[in-house]
Amino acid sequence: MTTNKDVLLERIANKSAVIGIVGLGYVGLPLMLRFAEVGYKVLGFDIDQSKVDALTAGKSYIEHISADSIATART
Ligand SMILES: NC(=O)c1ccc[n+]([C@@H]2O[C@H](COP(=O)([O-])OP(=O)(O)OC[C@H]3O[C@@H](n4cnc5c(N)ncnc54)[C@H](O)[C@@H]3O)[C@@H](O)[C@H]2O)c1
Repeated sequence: MTTNKDVLLERIANKSAVIGIVGLGYVGLPLMLRFAEVGYKVLGFDIDQSKVDALTAGKSYIEHISADSIATART
């Protein structure tokens, strides 16, 4: 019998799982970019509208993260 766990593990293995990241600060934003870099679709959530607006505009608000890396992840 195939369980939900089997399905999830398979989706993680073949990268069809969509990753959700809640909170796009110093931990969440780099994590989101890394998942995107290795081929997952990622949905990020944050209650700070200024962060959402910056990411939507392809801008970074963390010093060591470039706008280029945001733009690349959004493609
Ligand atoms: N930064 C570190 O080195 C570090 C180390 C260990 C643990 N942590 C833990 O990791 C977590 C994140 O840390 P951080 O440094 O990235 O913090 P941060 O303040 O940089 O980012 C947190 C983000 O979460 C957002 N947020 C808050 N409530 C939310 C909600 N209900 N829904 C969606 N978004 C929400 C905030 O707007 C903010 O953008 C914290 O719990 C922190 O204690 C951080």
